Amino acid sequence: MARALKLEFAGLHAPPADVLVLFCEEGMKLGAFPRRLVEPLGSQLRRAASAERFTGKNGSALEMVAPGALDLSRLIIIGVGRARDFKSADFVKLGGIAMGRIPGNASAATLVADLPGKPLQPETVADLALGMQLRAYTFDRYKTKRAEEDPPPPDQITIASANAGAVRKAWTARAAVAGGVYLARDLVNEPANVLDPAEFAARIGDLKKLGVAIEVLEPAQLKKLGMNALLGVAQGSAHSARVAIMKWSGGRRGAEPVALIGKGVCFDSGGISIKPASGMEDMKGDMAGAACVAGLFHTLAARRAKVNAVGVVGLVENMPGGTAQRPGDIVTSMSGQTIEIINTDAEGRLILADLLHYVNKRFNPKCMIDLATLTGAVIVALGHEYAGLFANDDRLADRLARVGRETGERVWRMPLGPEFDKLLESKFADMKNTGGRHGGAITAAQMLQRFVDKTPWAHLDIAGTGMGSPQSDINKSWGSGFGVRLLNAFLAQYYEK
Ligand code: BES
Ligand code: ZN
Ligand code: MN
Repeated sequence: MARALKLEFAGLHAPPADVLVLFCEEGMKLGAFPRRLVEPLGSQLRRAASAERFTGKNGSALEMVAPGALDLSRLIIIGVGRARDFKSADFVKLGGIAMGRIPGNASAATLVADLPGKPLQPETVADLALGMQLRAYTFDRYKTKRAEEDPPPPDQITIASANAGAVRKAWTARAAVAGGVYLARDLVNEPANVLDPAEFAARIGDLKKLGVAIEVLEPAQLKKLGMNALLGVAQGSAHSARVAIMKWSGGRRGAEPVALIGKGVCFDSGGISIKPASGMEDMKGDMAGAACVAGLFHTLAARRAKVNAVGVVGLVENMPGGTAQRPGDIVTSMSGQTIEIINTDAEGRLILADLLHYVNKRFNPKCMIDLATLTGAVIVALGHEYAGLFANDDRLADRLARVGRETGERVWRMPLGPEFDKLLESKFADMKNTGGRHGGAITAAQMLQRFVDKTPWAHLDIAGTGMGSPQSDINKSWGSGFGVRLLNAFLAQYYEK
């Protein structure tokens, strides 16, 4: 697991060390305490700012190396623009920007969380810390030589604020979020020769330590349950399938859970309908949905969430072995519906078909949300900033869209409808597993809906956001951990009150 930053929380008067990070509003407006810290610089600060044309615009920074009158290797002032209407996500982002400025060779750093006006809320300071933690993530376990120009961040980072005790308390819930995102990123970044279905299930087993109840279904049990659609995907691989079930019961005893379901294709070669070589290495990340669910359960358990939740992930490898599924094969899914395989590379929906049916029948959930790197088509439609959202329930869709805006893990609703059903008609079976190139993300979702019944359900197609998404101020990792913060906030806001 990637190492988390060690953050210390202290009062404003903590003596600044080596690297000092301050914030200012547009017009170089510093809070009262930072102003006192830079006083010894006299006019030097103004001159540096005007030389750099730094005024304090949001996201900009002024750096002074070995500033004369201060005993520091570097003074960094981060502009925030105008902080008045900031949302939580804005402070998380600022924390990321600040972290990105702290040089790796610093022995220690102090970040002073203070702006003009009232002292920052403890939650706001904790948001800054969350952004720092998310930004600091690196996946370098396979780098045997750390590049000299890329030293690790300092061991000691102190966040100084007006009410350190309250900040420490507010931080515990965010530390749980950071831990969940770290876990999800680690799983997505891990190569498939290490993270096969059994190993993925074993890593999920580690969540027992936090109090998550874990059940792992092996191939014989999956066969008995009738999960032939899922098993068909796995049959060409030397690594057999697993379904891992996570249960967190922090809510009212006996209350129905919210269900989270993840696509966990540890490697998607395409199978017999094999993918082209170029870029195929990215398909180690085709388990980002399952990684998000695992990360979310870390978060729920680590912050003792007052909610009942069940997470179910389908772990398989899609390979073109001699025993592999063929185009033209017909499988009978657990629901009894038959599926003609047209393209073995449309495997995610086959896994989710069985999982959605199983979860709905076994857990009678309040609602179901699945996450899957399901289609290239969703990337064509929405790019890398928004996940595709499909739902049979407007209230559920609206809530997810809202929480997406608040957390910055944004989703955009796409349509479902009976008009799309004709694209799934099969000559031989109840449906085929592809609907052609046009509206590819929609026909995939439309097929999933056939396995859902009346339960409120949402499908998040995270092919563009879960991996290889653009680097941001709070993510420099290939596997982004997308969805952990979204679903954590969704549960906290709508199911824990
Ligand atoms: N895992 C892929 C989708 C994907 C593509 C995820 C690119 C991330 C980046 C999925 O299993 C797949 O292969 N989908 C096919 C479906 C098609 C055969 C109907 C696709 O999108 O091309
Ligand atoms: Zn896939
Ligand atoms: Mn595929």
